[in-house]
Amino acid sequence: MKLRQWTTVAVVAVATVAALNTVPATASRPYDPTAQSLGALGLRHGLHVGTAVNMDALNDAGDPQYRALASSEFTSVTAENVMKWEVLEPTRGTYNWAAADQLVEFAKRNRQSVRGHVLVWHNQLPAWLTAGVADGSISKQELREILRKHITTVVNRYKGKIWQWDVVNEAVSDPWDTPSTLHYKGFWAQNLGPGYIADSFRWARAADPKALLFYNDYNIEAFGSGNPADDKTQFVYDMTKGLRAQGVPIDGVGSQGHLGTQYGNFDTLQVTAALKKFSGLGVATAFTEVDVRSQMTAGVQTGNSEEINPRLQASAANFSVLMKACLAVRSCLSYTVWGFSDRYSWVPDWFDDPPEGLATIYDENYQPKRAYQELKSDLIIAGPPYVLPRITPRPRR
Ligand code: XIL
Repeated sequence: MKLRQWTTVAVVAVATVAALNTVPATASRPYDPTAQSLGALGLRHGLHVGTAVNMDALNDAGDPQYRALASSEFTSVTAENVMKWEVLEPTRGTYNWAAADQLVEFAKRNRQSVRGHVLVWHNQLPAWLTAGVADGSISKQELREILRKHITTVVNRYKGKIWQWDVVNEAVSDPWDTPSTLHYKGFWAQNLGPGYIADSFRWARAADPKALLFYNDYNIEAFGSGNPADDKTQFVYDMTKGLRAQGVPIDGVGSQGHLGTQYGNFDTLQVTAALKKFSGLGVATAFTEVDVRSQMTAGVQTGNSEEINPRLQASAANFSVLMKACLAVRSCLSYTVWGFSDRYSWVPDWFDDPPEGLATIYDENYQPKRAYQELKSDLIIAGPPYVLPRITPRPRR
């Protein structure tokens, strides 16, 4: 009897070793990594490849391809707009959860993790809130209570269903903002002072002990403007360090990754160094909103390939730089693109002088662009010793 048990174990062990030594294959078809989704390839490294989701597109019965790609190509989703305050509470005290609930359900059905976006931001606030503060009918004290209630209500509703929350978004000014010494910008700091950041993380943690709590911002892909006074990345680093030192439950720093081919941008080692430096604080990192836009010159708009090709190539290279850096740093938990098709990208609406576009990894007809292929090849060729599985922090109390 005993002998038989041991035999079984031995047979299983041999089979396991054999499985590890072969590339996964089905009887009829050999394993072809290029046929895998970005999401599936990401999981080889423990990395979630995600996308922001536009709910109108997801619900458009006339465009089934959007839904098909959103569910098959990615292992994480972010609400592009429907978890923002103006959508969730358009009238004071009346919550509109329908679209956000729907995304969370969609993710569950497709076994995707959810990045919650966003709890505290100065944009896309409901008019009742900003108008009330402006006309004095909402006092500062009441505003603080309103913020506490908002965070508590939203985090509580999705408790246990959100992997990473963007708790505070874009609180830090840019080098070109004036005065250059004011580093906390916008509505919240003006009305509540910079302490709202620590408060927000504490309120979020009280509502969900398990979600990873992130600070999220743009233009923090690398250090080194040279001048510490206007190095935004350095400011965010110092801020994060300060929050950790005070025991604030911040678990991660999200780097949005909105790049443009007309700018200098960074090489992989610069971005890797930044992610490593943040990890040194004990926080996770993530790319949360990656897109790489280009100026839509007259030539681009009329289909001149001499103007289009270099843009597509530069865009692919920038997507790839962020991906390689993320792969190289074990704290980098996810790589999320801000929409996957030019058909629905926010870029043409927001950057119109001069007009910009071509910012995503699929064209308007869902044809994968070079950027998609480069991301895929980065995920395929990565491996030990330089690329190792992710290390997820335990949520901070
Ligand atoms: C953008 C959306 O993509 C647009 O649809 C919306 O009109 C404005 O907001 N940084 C963020 C995101 O954190 O929430 C923004 O999303 C893009 C910039």
